[in-house]
Amino acid sequence: MIILSRLKLRNPLMLASGILGSHVGSLNRIAKQAGAVVTKSVGLKGREGYRNPCVVSWECGILNAVGLASPPAEEFAKELKKFNRACPLIVSLFGSTPEEFVKLVRIFDFADAFELNLSCPHAKGLGLEIGRDFDLVYEIVRCVKKSTDKPIFAKVSANLDYVELAKVCESAKADGIVAINTMRGMVIDIVSKRPILSNVSGGVSGKAIKPIALKCVWDLYEEVDIPIIGCGGISNWKDVVEFALAGAKAVQIGSAFYYSYDVIENILEGLNSYLRINGVCFDELVGLAHRS
Ligand SMILES: Cc1cc2nc3c(=O)[nH]c(=O)nc-3n(C[C@H](O)[C@H](O)[C@H](O)COP(=O)(O)O)c2cc1C
Repeated sequence: MIILSRLKLRNPLMLASGILGSHVGSLNRIAKQAGAVVTKSVGLKGREGYRNPCVVSWECGILNAVGLASPPAEEFAKELKKFNRACPLIVSLFGSTPEEFVKLVRIFDFADAFELNLSCPHAKGLGLEIGRDFDLVYEIVRCVKKSTDKPIFAKVSANLDYVELAKVCESAKADGIVAINTMRGMVIDIVSKRPILSNVSGGVSGKAIKPIALKCVWDLYEEVDIPIIGCGGISNWKDVVEFALAGAKAVQIGSAFYYSYDVIENILEGLNSYLRINGVCFDELVGLAHRS
């Protein structure tokens, strides 16, 4: 059992935001195995997102520019009320003002925690573009914290000064930092000689970003005192151990679900053997690689 800012997780593995769409069916299935699930990011008004192709697989992972497609908040809330509650539900929110985030928190008052998307790299005026305005981020986190007693996690991008951003979130009383979202990138089709994604560029995820995400977790562990949730390129139990050693108290898994729906079960098998053989519990691994 992992205690993460008052949330009780049966294990440290969480489903990352946006991976299994906006229907509760897939969340209900994953919730039976995961420590917690994070929903697709949702804003007050619905968003169409970008036209296809918006997700491309390449040698080292995935590139997406879904464009924060989501149903309107009220509609998504109705859908999420069918969540089976087999594990904590973390609702991921996007918006551009503190007021919008506060309204969203009220609509999803049945959530166990909230994740603030300050990091999506492909939606104008949202995500990463909000994350780079530290004064605005401070106000968003402060106002959201004032409006709820549920834990608030801020999701940061490695495309920004994530240490400074995390410190701003910490000073506004965020309960944890999720590091990282996808990183800006693109792919070009050499036959049509055009970018493949309809949005031209998007966010890189999967194996390609694992060392980057790991370094972010490492840096954040040295600089902030609130819990860090590692995310980026995790696909097996060894990755999870590495993230814990770097300082992650829990991890999120995203792109690996595109290759296997059983990724949580598979990781748990290896992780539990590793913990047993080393005679430690998961918490004892957290940050261990920092010792001199
Ligand atoms: C298709 C797709 C959609 C995503 N949608 C969201 C989203 O709505 N909100 C968010 O914060 N992150 C979103 N992400 C980013 C993931 O939650 C995660 O941070 C990123 O993919 C890195 O983890 P991974 O390498 O395990 O996939 C999305 C990623 C993908 C591939």
